[in-house]
Amino acid sequence: MTVFLNGNYVDGSAAVIPVTDRGFIFGDGVYEVFRSVDGRLFEGERHQERLEEGLAALRIAMPEAAHGGALREIAARLLEENGHSRGHATVYVQITRGAAPRAHQFPADDVRPTMFVTTSALNSLEAVRSAGAVVITQPDVRWYRCNIKTIQLLPNVLAKQAAIESGGFEALFIRNGMVTEGTHSNLFAVLEGEVRTHPDNNLILPGVTRSVVLELAAELGFPVREEAITEEEIGQVDELFLTGTTTDVLPIAQVDGRHVGTGSPGPVAGQLYEALYRRMHEGRD
Ligand code: PDD
Repeated sequence: MTVFLNGNYVDGSAAVIPVTDRGFIFGDGVYEVFRSVDGRLFEGERHQERLEEGLAALRIAMPEAAHGGALREIAARLLEENGHSRGHATVYVQITRGAAPRAHQFPADDVRPTMFVTTSALNSLEAVRSAGAVVITQPDVRWYRCNIKTIQLLPNVLAKQAAIESGGFEALFIRNGMVTEGTHSNLFAVLEGEVRTHPDNNLILPGVTRSVVLELAAELGFPVREEAITEEEIGQVDELFLTGTTTDVLPIAQVDGRHVGTGSPGPVAGQLYEALYRRMHEGRD
């Protein structure tokens, strides 16, 4: 497996970063997960924009290799070398503030950010998609800047692990009685004829898939409202579904052991998944 690290293409097993890297020590960095379909980045510009916004928010200098054109070339080479340029794959990009003696404040200006890129084949979720995902709720104990895609994911890791240990697929975060999002996905509901999702603010990650699904819902003529559903409303919805780069549109069948709607994947999620899939394959044979 070839990876990109600070300007070099190396085998993953030989890629080395200093133990003083601030990503390792403080979780001081951002990441991005791009979706590749037959070697082309789906909605690559929106992912690129979010990566740049994250770097700016944390005041991490943008490495040359992270600029759109350069990053696209890196992704293309890794996808090709790793045998991921056919079918569905992901491109993972991580940029940290770099390596420096441990001190909380930013290091000197000459410390260069660390940049790492790798690719993976996308895991198939077809079994979960056809049955509907089983999810649990968990308190949203994250900070107030969830709109930045930082590598500090401990609340997400713990909540996802709780979901897996309960036999489920994902956990939904609840903050002040509102459902915010999943540990690695955004949440949508169908309630009283409307497609609902949490507004784009500091309490959720502004998912690229979320924004595409909002556009597709409007195109399909579904009334859309960006307003969070409450924990109580989970019991009243007709449908719930997750969206994300690695989940696409994934219907939810059960929350905390209770059926959602009929307990089977619903028609709105089905139509949106098909529309998303078509959009991903637009312009292909
Ligand atoms: N996660 N919310 C959170 C907390 C996420 O981590 C993600 C993505 C999303 C969906 O965003 P998008 O549609 O842009 O992928 C929402 C990635 C896939 C991950 O951490 O692996």
